[in-house]
Amino acid sequence: MAKLDTSYMGLKLDNPLIVGSSGITSTLEVVKRCEDAGAGAVVLRSVFEDEVRREYESAVRAHMRAGHMEAFTYQQPDLINLKGGQQYLELVNEATSALAIPVIASINCFAARSWGQYARDLEKAGAKAIEVNLHEFTASAVRSAENVEGTYSEAVSAVVRNTKVPVAAKLPPYFTNVAQMAFQMELDGAAGVVMFNRPFLPDFDIESIELKGGVSLSQPGDYKTTLRWVSLLSSRLGLDICASGGIHDGQAIIKQILAGARAVQVVSALYRMDLARIQEMLRTVAEWMDRHEFDTLADFRGKLAQPKTDLPHLLEKTQYSRLYMGL
Ligand SMILES: Cc1cc2nc3c(=O)[nH]c(=O)nc-3n(C[C@H](O)[C@H](O)[C@H](O)COP(=O)(O)O)c2cc1C
Repeated sequence: MAKLDTSYMGLKLDNPLIVGSSGITSTLEVVKRCEDAGAGAVVLRSVFEDEVRREYESAVRAHMRAGHMEAFTYQQPDLINLKGGQQYLELVNEATSALAIPVIASINCFAARSWGQYARDLEKAGAKAIEVNLHEFTASAVRSAENVEGTYSEAVSAVVRNTKVPVAAKLPPYFTNVAQMAFQMELDGAAGVVMFNRPFLPDFDIESIELKGGVSLSQPGDYKTTLRWVSLLSSRLGLDICASGGIHDGQAIIKQILAGARAVQVVSALYRMDLARIQEMLRTVAEWMDRHEFDTLADFRGKLAQPKTDLPHLLEKTQYSRLYMGL
């Protein structure tokens, strides 16, 4: 019988399916249901830098109105004194006490300031690891890519320096050189890299002639950008890779492990279906392993990582003429 246990950043997981950070993981009740449904771990919904920063700014304004600015400055209020930050610590505390599976906290940040202290508080609240969701929407015409990437690097280093629990850097897929960013995260002390997060993209409503937002769920088949990068980097990086993006079925989990992933994160598939999908996906993996006579995930992890595949150029040259000219 196939064994699905794995280790990710030193955490022992009964299986590689992690429910990723999202609305699904924003309440104790639903993360408990994720555990009951068979998830190997959960990443809680992120506490957002913007959210906390807005609270900070309104606290500053309130103190200024009351003429207390000097006292406020001396107090140096950090995130723990703010409501959003405090509520999140309570969720981490409740979830880690109630669940036997690892609970990973998530912070969405792009500036190093304050997050070091908050990382210590998350650890104290019981987080088994911290995921840093690096996701800055910059449309600045003057900031260089190097400058933006530098802030990502500083944020990860600040969290790593201030906590003993493992830290994962969750990257967007849009860099000129994803490989360099992943290696930089390793140099910054991350124990894992999550490839990739998914931006919320706005749309236009052409009848009301307005901007419309909305949740952007992935589709089955959207896993290929992740698959390519996991395959290209898994045998070269020293840190663990967690594959994320477009993983909707057991076959996609098998592919990411063949590429070298230690674990996978699933979100959209659980929004689309329901948590019962977790067992179905894991059953597909176990049945495939039995059919191929693999006892453990380690027996096939990385079998199709770049140096090991017969056709490494297919991973590297995905959009080039040789491929298209043959069509
Ligand atoms: C409704 C929704 C909310 C999300 N919230 C967060 C979040 O708080 N923090 C985060 O790091 N990622 C968040 N994500 C991104 C997911 O964790 C994941 O990286 C992305 O959806 C790609 O995985 P998928 O294709 O399985 O959905 C969210 C995604 C969705 C759809």
